[in-house]
Amino acid sequence: MESTATVEEVSEAATVWSAAELYERIQSEDGVFILDVRAEDEFEAWKIEGRRDIPTLGIPYYEMLEVDEHDDVVDTFQDFLSQGHTDGLPKDTPILAVCAKGDTSEYVAEALRRLGFDAFNLEGGTKAWGDHYHVETISESSERAVVQISRPARGCLSYVVASQGKAVVIDPLRHVDHYLDLARESGWTIELVLDTHGHADHISGGPALAEKTGAAYHLHPYDGIHPLDVLPATISYEYVADGKVFVFGNSRIETLHIPGHTLGNVAYLLDGDTLFSGDSIFLESIARPDLGGRGETWAPLHHASLRRLLALPAETVILPGHFSQLAEAASDGRFVGRLGDLKDGNEGLRMVQAGKEEFVTYILASLPEFPEEYVDIKRVNAGLKDVGEEAASELELGKNICALASSPR
Ligand SMILES: [Fe+2]
Repeated sequence: MESTATVEEVSEAATVWSAAELYERIQSEDGVFILDVRAEDEFEAWKIEGRRDIPTLGIPYYEMLEVDEHDDVVDTFQDFLSQGHTDGLPKDTPILAVCAKGDTSEYVAEALRRLGFDAFNLEGGTKAWGDHYHVETISESSERAVVQISRPARGCLSYVVASQGKAVVIDPLRHVDHYLDLARESGWTIELVLDTHGHADHISGGPALAEKTGAAYHLHPYDGIHPLDVLPATISYEYVADGKVFVFGNSRIETLHIPGHTLGNVAYLLDGDTLFSGDSIFLESIARPDLGGRGETWAPLHHASLRRLLALPAETVILPGHFSQLAEAASDGRFVGRLGDLKDGNEGLRMVQAGKEEFVTYILASLPEFPEEYVDIKRVNAGLKDVGEEAASELELGKNICALASSPR
């Protein structure tokens, strides 16, 4: 069939990368250099990260406008760059120009191409990168499918499990169309929506997904109370409790109440072999216990809960709620571990085994900063605050900090 693409479309496609193309590039470990032209504070707060360090240069676009301004902004950027600012830029690696929404960086990429660089624009900018979702099948048999849906820029992981055409969604993220699309394409009916806890780092898609599908949304009632406001949630949800079992198709999910990260924190054990650990065990770290403002009080609970999880069989497959680095994924891009391996390889889990006092001392010395927006995100998740798309996106900016810092400080 004859192609109908115009010359303009073809040439634009050749100079633009979508967030999905950037993700593929990062996964393949092909080289890329990033020229980030966002404001200095935005750049310092959050950058695009890869499986390995991506060489990145930050030059705010407004600095580039301080040279003689031409009528054409590309001419202005070209002038600026040619005044000794291209020295650190590679000639043999693609350069991705990045800004917040992908508009200004388009002109920067054009200026770089005029100077002979192999330059591209990130379509939609860091906003599109932050909102990019990636889908990976973890396992699939005639009995059961487990799918991991991630937001790579934010380090958030969620899951869809299906058996006999009936699907359960665990920790759905804010853009619920991804779950609806997967279910429709796979011929699954979403029957249950489960959150492992009241999230602080991102806005849960749970209530919205439940509303769109008619499935019941479940949360532990302790997390139906905002821990800092001490106010009850206004969202509608059904209670989960320790030992509660959900049956769908030929599979079953058992609830394990594991207070620590939050008071209502739970993990979900699928068919006795796969643990959706939410915010408890991560692949290279463990969850922090202080996001409810009670780190010292909750750290011993966290210790007891993690001990309980460590008593599961070594073969248990661990599917966590977060990652801190893309490099935690296997080379095929899936974030998955085996409990027996994590027991020795994960520093936080080694400290669990060292004893309660050692664990509490370790954990209180390893707490990262407490992002102030987390208080508001918990309010949104409890229905205590309403936000539109722009404010939601602003609250979720950057990478989650639900794990302990990698080394104590
Ligand atoms: Fe969390």
